[in-house]
Amino acid sequence: MRRDSMSAVDNVNRRSAVFNTLPKPPELPAFDYQPKVYDGPSYDAVRQMRQRYLTPALLTFYKNPIMIVEGSMQYLFDETGRRYLDGIGGIVTISVGHCHPYVTRKGVEQLQTLQHATTIYYHPAIAEFGKALAEKLPDELSVIYFVNSGSEANDLAIMMSRLYTGNYDIVALRNCYHGGSPASMGLTAHSTWKFNYPHSFGIHHAVNADPYRGPYGWDDPEAGTKYAADIQNLIEHATPGQVAAFFAESIQGVGGTVVFPDGYLKAAYAITRAAGGVCIADEVQTGFGRTGEHYWGFQSQGVVPDIVTMAKGIGNGAPLAAVATRPEIATLLSERTHFNTFGGNPVSCAMGKAVLEVIEREHLQQNCLDVGGYLMDGFRKLMDKHPIIGDVRGKGLMTGIELVKKRATKEPAAKEAMQVFERSKDMGLLIGKGGFFGNVLRIKPPMCITRADVDYLIEVFDIAFTEL
Ligand SMILES: Cc1ncc(COP(=O)(O)O)c(C=O)c1O
Repeated sequence: MRRDSMSAVDNVNRRSAVFNTLPKPPELPAFDYQPKVYDGPSYDAVRQMRQRYLTPALLTFYKNPIMIVEGSMQYLFDETGRRYLDGIGGIVTISVGHCHPYVTRKGVEQLQTLQHATTIYYHPAIAEFGKALAEKLPDELSVIYFVNSGSEANDLAIMMSRLYTGNYDIVALRNCYHGGSPASMGLTAHSTWKFNYPHSFGIHHAVNADPYRGPYGWDDPEAGTKYAADIQNLIEHATPGQVAAFFAESIQGVGGTVVFPDGYLKAAYAITRAAGGVCIADEVQTGFGRTGEHYWGFQSQGVVPDIVTMAKGIGNGAPLAAVATRPEIATLLSERTHFNTFGGNPVSCAMGKAVLEVIEREHLQQNCLDVGGYLMDGFRKLMDKHPIIGDVRGKGLMTGIELVKKRATKEPAAKEAMQVFERSKDMGLLIGKGGFFGNVLRIKPPMCITRADVDYLIEVFDIAFTEL
């Protein structure tokens, strides 16, 4: 196959062309790492191949998408060797750092020994990882089922809840995102992500517990129970009075870093259990210490779910996801054969176990708390200076900034969010964007970022907000 290769001279030319068009950006913190000289297909060749051979449905960030060819810890490099601070971690997936040396070594060692065999044979990697993961969860949630993606984990959780309870109806929240497979798309409640295709049978969406946009704000100490009352209402009016499950992200991610008021999940769980249902926490974005205060997002609400789904950060980029539950729920899947070819793959499990070890050894949950707090202080200072910032929120390194045209009306400032998003990229900072109106900047970097990175990030935002 012919490969259009880029010479080192082309690389340098392209790099200077990029820099010459930009005002001088703030300096990224020093980082002792030299990316390889990229000699693969050129940017244009890759663009053309994508356009010609890949689905047009692929989403790309930025008016002029960037090509990322290398990563190390919290940084990414494009084909010209330009370094970026990764403020979104491959959509909240890089937990311990790009190509973390220990995780990579464990993956490569396993790859060179046995890549695949499936769970029809014993293998130590899945057993050891299952044990290590269960030890991180509340005692009740002692059984793990490995799959490959968050959508798959949520599909399985839907099925488990229906089999276990004998009920069909499920309550999820408006503004949630739980995946793009037909079943998990049914849970998802954003028209942007829902195709005109049957997918939501038996799924009902309660009013979102959003203290910024909803009727009950942070100043209302009863907000949690008031929002939860809608679940009771929904169960009484839209279901036979019995449900299979209540599903919620512990902090809504794609929906724009929506943090529920205290007491919300406690009340929601009590209502669900009284209607015969189980409670499912989607920890795909919030798990593994990212929220700083706790290892799992649900812990900040003082609840213990019956089923926990996880993906993304669990594997630091390995295609790995899991469902954790109680033995009496898990046992139902033994009534038939439920098989998953790649679930529990030795390479993914070796990497997943290494991720757990790194989180402990490098105190990354603590780093999320410390650096996340420092980041939030920076956001608050930006909010004091830039009236377009309507709200800053989050926990640890799961954060968001919501932009509004006027604080009093909360009219979403989506165009401005896009402008900050683009300008940040020009200055070397990659972030995410979300929220129902597309007006929330999402900052969820690898959990290893430093205070120096935060100083840089705040400086970039300050410039971008000042330019609006
Ligand atoms: C909270 C949450 N749940 C589930 C998913 C689906 O995960 P996947 O894309 O791995 O199927 C996502 C993906 O963004 C997510 O954010």
